[in-house]
Amino acid sequence: MDYKTIKDVNVRNKIVLVRVDFNVPMKDGVVVEDLRIRASLPTLEYLREKGASKIIVITHLGRPEGKDKSLSLAPISKKLGEMMPNVAFIDDVSGPDVEDAVKRLPKGGILVLENLRFFAGEEKNSDDFIREIIESTGAEIYVQDGFAVVHRAHASTSAVANHLPVYAGFLVEKEVLNLTKVLEKPARPLLLIIGGAKVEDKEPLIAKFSKMADQIVVGGKIAADGYKGNEKIYVAEDFDEDSTGAKLDVGPVATSKIAGFITDAKTIIWNGLMGKAEDPAYATASTIVAEMMGEKEDAKTIVCGGDTTGFVESLSEEHPNLNYSLVSTGGGAALEFLLGKELPGLSVIELK
Ligand code: 3PG
Repeated sequence: MDYKTIKDVNVRNKIVLVRVDFNVPMKDGVVVEDLRIRASLPTLEYLREKGASKIIVITHLGRPEGKDKSLSLAPISKKLGEMMPNVAFIDDVSGPDVEDAVKRLPKGGILVLENLRFFAGEEKNSDDFIREIIESTGAEIYVQDGFAVVHRAHASTSAVANHLPVYAGFLVEKEVLNLTKVLEKPARPLLLIIGGAKVEDKEPLIAKFSKMADQIVVGGKIAADGYKGNEKIYVAEDFDEDSTGAKLDVGPVATSKIAGFITDAKTIIWNGLMGKAEDPAYATASTIVAEMMGEKEDAKTIVCGGDTTGFVESLSEEHPNLNYSLVSTGGGAALEFLLGKELPGLSVIELK
């Protein structure tokens, strides 16, 4: 990877501003899935171990219009505090209260600022907005660890580079290394498994991988709605139906063909569920794909897309032995990366 990472900078006694993406699923003010929080722990722990004086964590949550209390970062900060010591929260992003909160932090302490999107400057990529955050916190170094937001040109991902040197965190490094490898030097056969409901979201990926992949599989609602296959694109041919005839899961014939492709493949990218997997009655095909991929030892396996990674995460409690090369934290960002688009949050990282 050409990007400089936190290993290329001395953080001792420095105040470090870390952009994470803690935009996690919530229910009634409680975090229901914490993959993105856990994924940034190695970066936060490393900064602390290497003697950073204070660590300021910034992120968005949801798409609030103005200050929407239900999207405050207080519960997320609490969750982070269950995973690491010395985590504090302040319900603002700049100004005297933030300055005081930074002063009160012990050495190596973490301060989580309020939801960046409560302020219009964030999505406007405002230089003034991010400068105020930097001035109030005294940040001297910026770390991009929010892989899931690198496709957005916002103040905390883009304009920030006008003020601070930018380094990649370990999560960004891991995602970029894994995704680059499958694009540039995939072990073959390369298999792309596509599912989900919205054909317009998946078509660019199918088009790109029609040239690169050895085999493409289409399941999920897209297949049930009659997606047209070809020599390289296998579209599920049978489905499990409910009493009204709605096709809600890939059926046994197609599942066994997909299993054969998985057995042969040396690189597998999976994006999109095979059926309505939130209902256990229609989760069979997705479970088989997840288990077969997670048990493979001779292949690089990448799972991406929020629904798909959420499903894999939900299986992991019962099946802790399932292992993937990458369960990507990036929904849209991973897709845009795979499509070869330039990502604003990556293009500002210093190069080696
Ligand atoms: C995501 O969940 O994909 C990221 O957090 C980006 O969120 P956004 O689509 O609201 O910009």
